[in-house]
Amino acid sequence: MAFSGTTAIVTGGAMGLGLAITEALTARGTKVAIFDIAAEPVQAQVARLNENGAAVTGHVVDVSDRAQVESAVSKVRAELGPVLMLVNNAGIEQFGKFTEITDEQWDRVMAVNLRGPFICTQAVLPDMLDARWGRIVNISSSSAQGGQARMAAYVSSKAGVIGLTKSLALELGPKGITVNTIPPGMVVTPMLEKAIAEGRFTASLEHFASITPVRRAGRPEDIANAAIFLCQDESSYITGQVIGVNGGRRT
Ligand SMILES: NC(=O)c1ccc[n+]([C@@H]2O[C@H](COP(=O)([O-])OP(=O)(O)OC[C@H]3O[C@@H](n4cnc5c(N)ncnc54)[C@H](O)[C@@H]3O)[C@@H](O)[C@H]2O)c1
Repeated sequence: MAFSGTTAIVTGGAMGLGLAITEALTARGTKVAIFDIAAEPVQAQVARLNENGAAVTGHVVDVSDRAQVESAVSKVRAELGPVLMLVNNAGIEQFGKFTEITDEQWDRVMAVNLRGPFICTQAVLPDMLDARWGRIVNISSSSAQGGQARMAAYVSSKAGVIGLTKSLALELGPKGITVNTIPPGMVVTPMLEKAIAEGRFTASLEHFASITPVRRAGRPEDIANAAIFLCQDESSYITGQVIGVNGGRRT
């Protein structure tokens, strides 16, 4: 199975890591459907990528909503063919003292970060099962490996993504489908820039870079390169893995 001509869905593909993964896939000839809740960035990026010759469609979808996901997956199948690659990347953060997290905040983070991958994977799985080939890459977080104060809901959801990945890898391995997770370290994206601007972290990005073994913050391409590695046909013996892309921090 080659990248060229295959169809992928990248959730949260309108910016940040998802956009870099979309660009890396389209550069290899993969047809990509972006599922993202942010309408304007989706339209802008799809127009830009199509102008550059990429086969990309955009779908304004909340990944936590089963009806929206299923309807968009049907459209993708009709327009681009069966979906054999899925990158569950869409995610939201939530900051605050543990004692102040509301039920609504907890539920929303779980709905987007954990129920989203659950729903999206169920929706595309029939195509992968038919083809007896599939690649699922879930984006978790290095915070799930070490914990993060004032981010209990987010970290719990991302730890759930690691558990989902490992369980699915066991269930889907015999069907030719691999399932892996990338827990990124700090990568400069709109999400990280917003958190820094809001003063969510105790130290600056420069400080985090200085305590990272490779002495820099992550770039979206760092995560995209790992996602491409996991999606390639040659990675068929790699499944259920947690592939840290974090400059050596929290490994
Ligand atoms: N940037 C980092 O340092 C970092 C570190 C660890 C993990 N992550 C994870 O990587 C993923 C991407 O992060 P990013 O930094 O690119 O974030 P980002 O905020 O820059 O981009 C996230 C994208 O997801 C979309 N999105 C949010 N909620 C959605 C929903 N309900 N349905 C569909 N789309 C939705 C947003 O519109 C946006 O386009 C997230 O899951 C995040 O938790 C990021």
